Amino acid sequence: MTSIRNIVILTGAGVSAESGIDTFRDGGGLWEQHRVEDVATPEAFVRDPDLVLRFYDMRRAAIQTKAPNAAHDALARLDREWPGELLIVTQNVDDLHERAGARRVLHMHGEHLNVWCTACDARSRWTGPLIHRPGCPECGEAALRPDIVWFGEMPYRMDEIFAALEEADLFVSIGTSGAVYPAAGFVRNARELGAQTLELNLEPSQGSGWFDEARHGPASELVPAWVDEVLAQR
Ligand code: OAD
Repeated sequence: MTSIRNIVILTGAGVSAESGIDTFRDGGGLWEQHRVEDVATPEAFVRDPDLVLRFYDMRRAAIQTKAPNAAHDALARLDREWPGELLIVTQNVDDLHERAGARRVLHMHGEHLNVWCTACDARSRWTGPLIHRPGCPECGEAALRPDIVWFGEMPYRMDEIFAALEEADLFVSIGTSGAVYPAAGFVRNARELGAQTLELNLEPSQGSGWFDEARHGPASELVPAWVDEVLAQR
């Protein structure tokens, strides 16, 4: 590895798989159990809000029973110890990076433990259910929705992500299938902007061929080994 200072890491459901959180597209994954069009679009929320709220209530409750694994722990250690710029851009809506201790985390697809008030636009921390239509902590209106980016909606904080990609010397993609844009395109953006690129995933992702290097295996093994390597050459 040549000298690096600024790192952007993209994580996906594969990072949380060994914590017991279902991925989306692996066998038996969430999108085999539920149709995207039923639970993860703004149209679904208008058509059948109870179904959508129940789905996210279930997921919100489930993630609170899970714990970070060795991959989250290793990334939190990298965040603590890496002297250069570092940004963990996660597609995950769980809070396991933060619970492991990572601070430089950006949730581009939203967060299970946040709600968004469609009346006053406030975002609030939320750990309980929404099915009984509680009032917004800010304005009191019963107009809360999960703060999750649904299909057809714009991912969050894209300007910050592209600014980080522009400065990146190394882009690492961990535990993501490369099926959902714009995240799936970051590897090409990073390459064009001059970064080295590395994939750490259970199996080759859809975009595997775009990476300078790809290592395949479970995140709980690959990520700690890579973090040791990168910290050793500080
Ligand atoms: P996917 O379910 O599409 O892909 C998970 C990836 O993780 C697959 O490539 C698996 O091979 C890999 N994987 C599984 N177990 C692993 C392990 N133990 N270690 C390493 N890799 C492992 O999930 P994402 O790519 O995160 O969006 O999906 C992207 C987006 O699609 C999600 O953020 C979500 C979904 O629809 C929204 O909800 C907006």
